[in-house]
Amino acid sequence: MKHFTTLLTSAALVAASALVAQANEFRLGLITPPPHIWTKAAEAFGAELAEVSGGAHSVSVFPARQLGNEAEMLQQLQTGALDMAFMTVAEVSNRAPDMGAFYAPYLANDIAHAGRILRSETAASLLEPLAGQVGVVGVGYGMAGLRQIVSRGEISTAQDLAGLKLRITPFAPILDFYNAVGAAPTPMPLPAVYDALANGQVDAIDMDAELIWVLKYFEHADTIVQSDHMMFPMVGLVSAKVWAGMSDDDRAMIGGLMAKHVDSTIDSYIAKEAGWLEQVKDTGITYTKVDASFFGDAVEQWNAIWSQKAKSLDALRAVAAQTE
Ligand code: BEZ
Repeated sequence: MKHFTTLLTSAALVAASALVAQANEFRLGLITPPPHIWTKAAEAFGAELAEVSGGAHSVSVFPARQLGNEAEMLQQLQTGALDMAFMTVAEVSNRAPDMGAFYAPYLANDIAHAGRILRSETAASLLEPLAGQVGVVGVGYGMAGLRQIVSRGEISTAQDLAGLKLRITPFAPILDFYNAVGAAPTPMPLPAVYDALANGQVDAIDMDAELIWVLKYFEHADTIVQSDHMMFPMVGLVSAKVWAGMSDDDRAMIGGLMAKHVDSTIDSYIAKEAGWLEQVKDTGITYTKVDASFFGDAVEQWNAIWSQKAKSLDALRAVAAQTE
């Protein structure tokens, strides 16, 4: 919420703000399917905004890439054709490489630690340049679970990943990681992944526990490697153009409620991730839990690349150390 105070006074955003509160029907896009935690949080945000605004504002939620993939939605946010999105920080980092720092392998010791890092002042400060740099206002962070590996074949060592067509979310930090591992990383947006794994278009996928268990991705795999190698933040976004046309009161109400609901996803994953993974293990599938040593020098290779690309890496590492 502190981030809001900064936003409300940010000169970068102010184009036309002496407006009185006005009724609005906002459109919010995201790529996750209807039962996903992010989609439910988006719907809860819309319901609470309608209630708190006495019906003046409403939010229509478009899940499952109905408005396009994340790159397309980001463009729509920039032009003002789309009002809002709950978006992977991965996609935003394609335009704001400093955000790649969140993906430092093993930055977070566990999911609760990832939550503390995302709730830090340092993390909030990374949202501030987005309005000027990308044309979107980042109101706050959410997340999904830590990243795991789901494979159609047996995986005992990282050498077993060599040359595997391994699906990744399309963004540079994860591409660099799996290149360092020696796999053949295959960028693919989320909605295409289930079928690609089922029909063997890819050999393995980089994924989180909710999708592995709740959305049944494990059913098309032989091996789960619980590696917990990266966090996976999400960000609540408002088009900077749309934001500039809002009254201060509306910014406070809309931004505050959106921040609350994206933040709620952090608590959901902290509460549920371990249980999902237990249930996957209980199916009898081959299940191994590994740590950073599994990946050999890939973690160090990643650090060498991203210490040049993401200037906030040291600051986020300092937060990680303080919040252990
Ligand atoms: C993914 O690309 O793996 C992903 C995207 C959004 C939510 C969860 C996972």
